Amino acid sequence: MSAAAPAELTRGTYVGGGWREAVRTFPTFDPAHDDRVLAHCAAASPADVRDAFASAREAAPAWAATSALERGELLQRTADLLAARRGDLAETLTREEGKTLRESDAEVGRAISVLRWFAGEAAQPTGSVHPASDPRTLLFSLREPLGVVAVITPWNFPFAIPAWKIAPALAFGNTVVWKPSEITPLCAALLVEAFHDAGVPAGVLNMVTGLPAEIGDAVTGDPEADAITFTGSLAVGRKIQVGAVARGVKVQLETGGKNPVIVLEDADLDRAVELTVRGAMWSAGQKCTATSRALVLPGVSTAFKERLVTRVGALRVGDPLDDAVDIGPLASEAQLEKVLGYLEIGRDEASPAVGGAGITREGNFVSPTVYLDVDPDSRLGQDEIFGPVLGVIDVPDLDAALAVANGVRYGLSASIFTRDLDRALQFVRGIRVGMVHVNRETPGAEPHAPFGGMKDSSSHSREQGKASAEFFTQLKTVAIDP
Ligand code: UN1
Repeated sequence: MSAAAPAELTRGTYVGGGWREAVRTFPTFDPAHDDRVLAHCAAASPADVRDAFASAREAAPAWAATSALERGELLQRTADLLAARRGDLAETLTREEGKTLRESDAEVGRAISVLRWFAGEAAQPTGSVHPASDPRTLLFSLREPLGVVAVITPWNFPFAIPAWKIAPALAFGNTVVWKPSEITPLCAALLVEAFHDAGVPAGVLNMVTGLPAEIGDAVTGDPEADAITFTGSLAVGRKIQVGAVARGVKVQLETGGKNPVIVLEDADLDRAVELTVRGAMWSAGQKCTATSRALVLPGVSTAFKERLVTRVGALRVGDPLDDAVDIGPLASEAQLEKVLGYLEIGRDEASPAVGGAGITREGNFVSPTVYLDVDPDSRLGQDEIFGPVLGVIDVPDLDAALAVANGVRYGLSASIFTRDLDRALQFVRGIRVGMVHVNRETPGAEPHAPFGGMKDSSSHSREQGKASAEFFTQLKTVAIDP
């Protein structure tokens, strides 16, 4: 598959175990080239969405009644197929979303790990036995499926995030209607194909692709949905949450971040610079966990900034299929417009030490940008930008760093660079985020550990690992008096 391969017609809408013929399509665009149509994707209608939910509802009782071991085996077979197709999947991800091939390969690897972990998790105990007030009574609680789960996922991790929502949903006995991002329908079709080829029963997994303006409300408002899990922007997430709460539907959000690193005087500076740059710039900064603020203490400020600016200036921006490239394009023109808007704001609020502009070449490229002396209360200091843009903020000491770090609406991820265990632990205790790192980059998640944020970064629930049972099941308490 070359970068200039002709646009293909994707298989967009998968309902009741089969692909629906496209009545209408919408185009997707190659992020690394201007005006190059990458794919024509089937545009689902609200009627398709209703059918998808009806099919998920119909399939729910039988799927809930299968053995959990059998459900785990389906996930295992799907993981095997993804592993066999890994090279193609990674290349499609790079062509469609724009992250480098190295990062795409790692993401596909993560999706495989997630499926394998939940394949095992399906066989774990699903309840507990409690002492009853009458000792002859058998009192226990067990976890049951919710029914039909609506899964809504973003374009920035088009394999990993769907995997970590769909895998637990299915493992715990739910059926799914999935709406992937309209920016990455090729990846979505490949993931569904793997489930299909692995033998997912008809109706257990359904997918609808389409433009949010046409099918968004149909997906989030369908009366058959027992639960909605969403990763994406805070604005959209809140709207979905409000609607779900009004209807009494269980809802889970993973939204934005404004993630800081704190660099103390005793930090390993090479490591601090390298991991700050990776955290801020890889995937062109399009991760909710991306580093977007560096808070530096006086003793280290000058040296850190010098090395940071040099390192960022040396990053190679270009075709993400090229192994020598560090940073590809932004995923869409809309994303490019948004980030360019922030570079405009940056011109008023600060001055870039490196970058600060779009790149006059084809595609959605912006140069990796570092602003110094950012005001913590400015737009650059507060807003989630979702691009390769880092703001450096000078702080007098660790207490001030913590206050600035916590002085935003989000609370997803944060890191500190230090060799001082005492101050590292002070940071661990004082930082209000869900994902805390010491001497590590701010992005990153492990399939078996809880993932999620505080404050406006999530709906206070967690995904992945054991924590996922909290959302994807409901508890039943049973007392049996012989
Ligand atoms: C990561 O840090 O590797 O949308 C995962 C996002 C997050 C996932 C981040 N929900 O960027």
